[in-house]
Amino acid sequence: MIKVSPSILSANFTRLGDEVKRAERGGADYLHVDVMDGVFVPNLTLGPPVIASLRPVTEIPFDVHLMIQRPRRYVDDFVRSGANILTVHLEAEEEMEKTLKEIREFGARPGLSIKPATTFEAVKPFMGLVDLLLIMTVEPGFAGQQFMVEMLPKIEEAREFIDKSGLDVELEVDGGVDEVTAGLAAKAGARVLVAGSAIYGGRVRNRIAKIRKSALAALT
Ligand code: DX5
Ligand code: ZN
Repeated sequence: MIKVSPSILSANFTRLGDEVKRAERGGADYLHVDVMDGVFVPNLTLGPPVIASLRPVTEIPFDVHLMIQRPRRYVDDFVRSGANILTVHLEAEEEMEKTLKEIREFGARPGLSIKPATTFEAVKPFMGLVDLLLIMTVEPGFAGQQFMVEMLPKIEEAREFIDKSGLDVELEVDGGVDEVTAGLAAKAGARVLVAGSAIYGGRVRNRIAKIRKSALAALT
């Protein structure tokens, strides 16, 4: 019903393998991996070699969030490195249909993400091609920012569209999710919650449980 996807961007990089295991033992459903290229967003993070080195450490699906310009160039590399869900940004790629189809052909589940300024309307044409829609609740680029409550109507709009169309698309939110905002996001319709600082800033198992509990409470 609710999936939690800890973002390793907020983990301790000197012992990344252990941090991934902490998430797995703590009940994480996915592991969120933030890839930034310094072009699509100002920040730089990691790429396929790091993902490949983490792959043998865990069996949790890797939920790889590409914040890179023209991601189509790297679909093959990221799928080979072990991405299970490969999410690209609508704003970053002109050949979106081809990109999403290639992700599936190469063997991963395609995801599509939109920045706060992009409307849900803009992704509608691609909804039949994706397994996951990621609505950003912060400006992509950095962990530790505040959840933008202004995004809640967009999440509601996406939820309504998915339910009405009967499409099998997971609705994910990313940015500023903690035990309070998790409830807001879930109430609006999100079912996959990414959290970085709110999870790795404390005891991972407790933090995951609190986020899940707050989201589930908002659904009842
Ligand atoms: C932001 C990234 C997020 C970020 C989440 O660009 O896509 O995944 O790491 O971090 P928190 O949960 O701290 O906002
Ligand atoms: Zn992310």
